[in-house]
Amino acid sequence: MQKHQTIMKPTSAKDDPNLSDYQNTRESFDWSDVEKELDWLPNGGLNLAYEAIDRHVAKGNGEKLAMIWEGKNGEKETYSYDQMRIETNKFANSLLNLGVKKGERVFTFMERIPEIYFAVFGTLKMGGVIGPLFSAFGPDPVKDRLENSGASVLVTQPELLKKIESIFPSLPNLKHIIVVNKNGRSSEPVPPNNLDYYKLMSDASEEFGPIATTRDDYSIMHYTSGTTGKPKGAVHRHNAVIQHYLTGKWCLDLHENDIYWCTADPGWVTGTSYGMSAPWTNGVTQVIYEGGFNARKWYQILQDYKVSVWYTAPTAIRMLMKSGKELPQSFDLSNLRFSASVGEPLNPEAVEWGVDAIGMPFHDNWWQTETGAIMIANYASAEIKPGSMGKPLPGIFPGIIDAEGNEKSDGEEGNLAVKTPWPSMFQDYWEQRERYDSRFVAGWYLTGDEAYRDSDGYYWFIGRSDDVINTAGHLVGPFEVESALIEHPAVAEAGVIGKPDPIAMEVVKAFVSLKEGYEPSTELQRELMGFARQKLAAAVAPREIEIIDSLPKTRSGKIMRRLLKARELGLPEGDTSTLEED
Ligand code: PRX
Repeated sequence: MQKHQTIMKPTSAKDDPNLSDYQNTRESFDWSDVEKELDWLPNGGLNLAYEAIDRHVAKGNGEKLAMIWEGKNGEKETYSYDQMRIETNKFANSLLNLGVKKGERVFTFMERIPEIYFAVFGTLKMGGVIGPLFSAFGPDPVKDRLENSGASVLVTQPELLKKIESIFPSLPNLKHIIVVNKNGRSSEPVPPNNLDYYKLMSDASEEFGPIATTRDDYSIMHYTSGTTGKPKGAVHRHNAVIQHYLTGKWCLDLHENDIYWCTADPGWVTGTSYGMSAPWTNGVTQVIYEGGFNARKWYQILQDYKVSVWYTAPTAIRMLMKSGKELPQSFDLSNLRFSASVGEPLNPEAVEWGVDAIGMPFHDNWWQTETGAIMIANYASAEIKPGSMGKPLPGIFPGIIDAEGNEKSDGEEGNLAVKTPWPSMFQDYWEQRERYDSRFVAGWYLTGDEAYRDSDGYYWFIGRSDDVINTAGHLVGPFEVESALIEHPAVAEAGVIGKPDPIAMEVVKAFVSLKEGYEPSTELQRELMGFARQKLAAAVAPREIEIIDSLPKTRSGKIMRRLLKARELGLPEGDTSTLEED
């Protein structure tokens, strides 16, 4: 139970109309009131890109800055809402000019450059389904995702294209590869069988319309890892924008004049729901920094761009903690008003460190790729219980349930589930309907997390109920890593677990047994590490590989990952017969 002191909020926070709305409407909340705050299309349709961009222009705010971009090489660019409207119109028209139709899947494999935002919203405007991929992925994860989704278009950059060249022969549905040579970063010309992004855009009209999507049309898909099988493509619909908008307002406390920075990559769901949709539907100015983590640089960004609302992740916060609380104090962070965190458990020490180091606590919140938007949060107006994920959003009804769907009482541990439906609920796992259906029982969506609720209604995370690994906020499916490892000629079998880590929460650790004729050696170990990294991505590949004689298996031949984990942690191995059908 709670060991850390509750952090109370100043009365001024409670007086804010954004926040008192939250306090007052919990009981009488109705999603249709939120829907009225959005601008529906003339034919009753709904489009995420229109809500995020065009409607601000239509309201006379076209000149307002939407994006302040800083590139990894120090480049700086800014785009107003009207410029965003034009660039996204041009991208939508470029796709139509290529013959791409509504419902086709358009994937991006790009770094955090402005063009990815144009591609995402342009695709959404013409009714395509956008699938952003993490640019650090190696060829295997990219191939799996393009193959399963049947994507017809890939937008990428020269250096990234080179990394995945080998996969194209096995992707018959992929018709167009659009290459963005940002600021001439690559000296090589765009290969003749690919399309030059800038050429397509200069040939496309700046006017686009009418936008013809409905609230139920598919919009975005993100792949997420499970315990078994390859990652599943969680598909969302335009309707999700309703919850993006509301949670931006209530959970991230976004106001019109805010300068907002979300550190998540667009390849993960936080990078689209909260790095695109929530901030722009709320009409704020967003800072986008292409580079990776660097404590000094991050504080510099907060200072120089006068960031007022900041959304980041526990691993990053723990890395900032490592660099000391004196460092932020040498920067002027006086514009920062609200900080939030998501993706992994945020330890209470990190919440409290925020108060000391940057003058405010981090507000933890909880959601998933499948939920599409924040579901449980520590609100700006409410007391924070450090270590807790917070309380449910009005209109969202989570519960702690047993295997049959019966609700448990406060304080009892169990499966965290959510009553269906909610506006940003995922609609399918692409072409894996059975796996989608298996996530629901008796009107509940099963999150795969274990938690409990205290008597004040705050939810506390306990752990995953499956073998999925959470490393630095990225979910890694052991099966994906095992499949890559067994492709190496020396590997007979592989079992992958999450090993606890003080910074990244868990790191990926693999156990492998060797085929006859191969002997364990540090050299082979190193070779396997390099092999996995080349195929997957540094973020997904094992940090440690241990070669063992044989892997523990159930009688039906399944590798017992939990036993591997228990051995790794020196825990009792328990009654292994119960693991038979795990
Ligand atoms: O296990 C939970 C953990 O991350 C999972 C969702 O990961 P993903 O689908 O990649 O979505 C990332 C966007 C939020 C959850 O099932 N998780 C997420 N937030 C928290 C968390 N664990 C503990 N505390 C959180 N606040």
